[in-house]
Amino acid sequence: MGIKIVSTGSYVPDRVLTNFDLEKIVDTSDEWITTRTGIRERRISEGETTSDMATEASLKALKGKNPDEIELIVVATATPDAFFPSTACKVQSKLENRKAVAFDISAACTGFIYALYTADSIMRSKGIKKALVIGAERFSKIVNWKDRTTCILFGDGAGAVVLKESEEEGILGFDLGADGSFGNLLYVPSVGSNEEYPFYVRMRGNEVFKVAVRTMVESAKRVLEKTSLSPKDIDLLIPHQANVRIINAVAERLGIEASKVFVNLDRYGNTSAASIPIALDEALRKGLVREGSTVLMVAFGGGFTWGSCVVRL
Ligand code: ACO
Repeated sequence: MGIKIVSTGSYVPDRVLTNFDLEKIVDTSDEWITTRTGIRERRISEGETTSDMATEASLKALKGKNPDEIELIVVATATPDAFFPSTACKVQSKLENRKAVAFDISAACTGFIYALYTADSIMRSKGIKKALVIGAERFSKIVNWKDRTTCILFGDGAGAVVLKESEEEGILGFDLGADGSFGNLLYVPSVGSNEEYPFYVRMRGNEVFKVAVRTMVESAKRVLEKTSLSPKDIDLLIPHQANVRIINAVAERLGIEASKVFVNLDRYGNTSAASIPIALDEALRKGLVREGSTVLMVAFGGGFTWGSCVVRL
């Protein structure tokens, strides 16, 4: 038995916040943001909760199919609606599904790869036939809109994939890892800590940048080795959308040409766990990949965490 991504969906809020809008909020410029990050605009929730966005993305991924067939829902998010119930339980309820096992995964921007790994493993070991894996974030709620070093980076949105048991193998391999000793370079405290509210994103961007490039390259190389593939076999690289300079450095070091690298962070910024599933959905809709294409996804985030996955669509 194999597991395959059979359909995808995504949702972003209508409200666009451009770099020029940000110039009115903090001491920054469109020129600084564009050259340092590649981001031009991002979407900001106008009241949609993380589970609302996750549900919209899921409905699109389900493409009219009965949500009751879903036996497992895994949501990757660092910005859940509530401590509990999980965002996955809220999505289950909004989809009017009554049978899926449902839970959230916390691995910051690597969350979607961790969620895919978890769902894939559970499906194989427990014989589950159909699952929903979602990355959904409302980062606009946890950035300090007075801190120009972080508020310019993030956006809101959600992406979802339907995983199904299949005769052909669609999930070719993973490489995952974590190093908690870097935890203080990128984090959002919460009620279990001794830090005072408000709980905003704290990031030492420059230090994160260097580790991100090195770690993403190493992880991508390991997954290629595990799957006996070379960069030439990859039809599309979908890196986590944090910074176009990170993306270019990773692609260059892997020897993957720019035309095979998906970038949409100019329009959405960093949507954390949602960035890869939103990108995959867009790449499919734009016809950049299709059934049979081989896609390498690679992510890096708070923890530090990292993860890569090769899929055949
Ligand atoms: N506008 C104008 N100036 C700014 C801004 C801004 N928005 N932000 C910072 N600056 C200034 C700084 O104050 C600094 O000024 P100084 O030289 O006078 O001290 C200067 O610009 C350079 O700052 P750096 O932090 O060194 O800039 P850098 O080139 O590193 O870019 C950035 C910063 C974009 C944050 C980059 O470091 C980055 O992308 N880091 C990685 C982020 C990432 O990948 N995160 C992981 C995923 S996120 C997750 O897991 C939730």
